[in-house]
Amino acid sequence: MNNIVLIGFMGSGKSSVGKLLAEQTHRTYIDLDQKIEEDTGDTIPNIFKNEGEEGFRKRETEVLRALSSREGTVISTGGGIVERKENHDVLKEHGPVIYLHASFEEISARLEDDESRPLWSKPEVERKNLLEKRLPVYKECADELVNTDHKSINDVVNEIESLIKS
Ligand code: S3P
Repeated sequence: MNNIVLIGFMGSGKSSVGKLLAEQTHRTYIDLDQKIEEDTGDTIPNIFKNEGEEGFRKRETEVLRALSSREGTVISTGGGIVERKENHDVLKEHGPVIYLHASFEEISARLEDDESRPLWSKPEVERKNLLEKRLPVYKECADELVNTDHKSINDVVNEIESLIKS
């Protein structure tokens, strides 16, 4: 197996951390959002527009399940992967699950001008509620939690490396 699975809210650094972690640990980097876009030949905002969030979630589960034969990878997931309970076991089957935690303030600063995430373009109160609702679910799904606030990508990667070695 030998995979590492990254979960966490939008803007928690899963992609940047995942890429560097893959490079440093000689694993293949897999980005679920990217795979969904490649498979559909469309962007995530368009998938949300045309198929609704439900359509996107269905695709997300399919892509996650399809990874079951992969080995030696770092899998970066979309922030909503924990929304479907059926995904929880699949995540754990793929490998140790690392939750990259970030505070709402930090996420807001990182995603300030972002327009590529349909659920981030909602009013602030909804974004905050979404994070609060998901927080316990991320923790429940994770084997390890890494707080990313005020840390560089390098720091986070090194922390994950020492966690998976111990
Ligand atoms: C989503 C997060 C996004 C992407 C989609 C939905 C979410 O991924 O999958 O916009 O529900 O939190 P990132 O976490 O990589 O931004």
